[in-house]
Amino acid sequence: MDGRPLYLEPRLEPRLRSLLAAAGTLHSLTDALGSPLHVVVPDQIAENLERFRSVYRAHHLSGQVFYAHKANRSSALLRRLAATDAGVDVASLGELQHALGAGFTADRITATGPKNPEFLWLAARTGVTVSVDGTDELDQLASLVRTFGLAPVRVLLRLSGFEASGVKVLSRRSRFGTPVRELDTLLKSVERHGDAVELTGVGYHLDTTGIAEKATALEGSLAALEACRSRGLRPRAVDVGGGFGVSYLAEREQWEAYTSALTSAVLGRRPPLTWGGHGYGLRDESGTLRGTLGLYPAHRSVAGAAYLDDLLAQPAASLGGRPLAAVLLEHLYDLHTEPGRALLDQCGLSLARVLEVRGPEPGGELLVRLAAKADDIALEDHGVLMDPVVVPRSGAGPGEGPVAVHLFGGLCLETDLITRRTVFLPRRPDPGDLLAFANTAGYAMDFHATRAQYQPAARKAAAWQDGDVWRWCLDEQFWPTTPSGGAQ
Ligand SMILES: Cc1ncc(COP(=O)(O)O)c(C=O)c1O
Repeated sequence: MDGRPLYLEPRLEPRLRSLLAAAGTLHSLTDALGSPLHVVVPDQIAENLERFRSVYRAHHLSGQVFYAHKANRSSALLRRLAATDAGVDVASLGELQHALGAGFTADRITATGPKNPEFLWLAARTGVTVSVDGTDELDQLASLVRTFGLAPVRVLLRLSGFEASGVKVLSRRSRFGTPVRELDTLLKSVERHGDAVELTGVGYHLDTTGIAEKATALEGSLAALEACRSRGLRPRAVDVGGGFGVSYLAEREQWEAYTSALTSAVLGRRPPLTWGGHGYGLRDESGTLRGTLGLYPAHRSVAGAAYLDDLLAQPAASLGGRPLAAVLLEHLYDLHTEPGRALLDQCGLSLARVLEVRGPEPGGELLVRLAAKADDIALEDHGVLMDPVVVPRSGAGPGEGPVAVHLFGGLCLETDLITRRTVFLPRRPDPGDLLAFANTAGYAMDFHATRAQYQPAARKAAAWQDGDVWRWCLDEQFWPTTPSGGAQ
């Protein structure tokens, strides 16, 4: 191993830290249910919801927090949320059915994203709010309402292409929503379908961490609400979508040390830090660094509910520079949010059994093969770099360390790497040990899962604390009554 280990240790809050320390439970769970295995922690999502709620309270704002279901298929997490006062944002027919079956009533559901006719029909039939992409979707919805004699459907208009006042900077291009410059056409369509739809608000979702861009979009949405009201329409909600983010790493210094070492490695000033010299978007062009780092900012000083707080404190330049929260409050508008990743922060981990440890390679790295595919632990797909935690088989000694390893999956593909990064571990893993990837509930558990080569997709268990003991059941068997209902 060359030089000091470059650790990227996960940020662990007490619940996940405690679960990781329950090595015996994690091993018997994996022995019983197989590797890989995802474990979700439903009580954490309720705690995360409460953090969002407290930001609403601090700004005296009303409105709903809609969990973006797409980020995890788990029934346990969804049902735990159904037992709170949260809403859910569904993006497919299956997600809508799942939400209804988990106990969410229509007034707590919004339907977003691309919609097929069946999805639109069930949304209209059950009376959920539909976030419409454009005039075509409005036409389809109105036609369903008329054909099937349904009650008018509540709609939110998804907008895009916002422009900061005075500055020609558009928010990033999106394939979703209607550009705000076409609002007039969209509103004519709303008016034409006045018998079939009821306009309740406008919204956006921007896939960015940039707060200025989001503040511009929120300000633009407030202007759009005014435009609606000046024509006699009565929307009163603004939906700011998701994208509040998660801080994955415990230490900022580790993230900075890693990214600067990666840059040096790409420029050939130190040995490679990745399999095959992969640069995560960076490349060397005759000694000059080119490209952009295509990684999630794994350490963030502001994320989740705190990011919402920051957004609300941004000044609305076109509205006298007052904070956006003050403008929302003054108009008594409802604020809707759709956090996915942020509500799932600390809500689970993924376990993979070590099958083989080979090496070391000439560079000093060990090759570690796991009973999992890269698709099962998809942190890398989302650009999240974070070390797994070694959970030794009970009775194992401390092991030698630190070591540098490459983590491979079980497919016969050169590309089946759990991460392309050389991972540094404080101890050498042995076959039979588990590697626990913390904080995988947001998008990294099942979003990309496949059954390639007839290998199983990971199963999912739900776990909760009963005093000092961790208890569990299969994800699909969890209901809010489970932990206290003595079902175990
Ligand atoms: C419309 C909409 N809302 C909310 C989200 C959730 O985003 P995040 O998980 O980043 O909070 C997404 C993500 O794709 C989305 O498309």
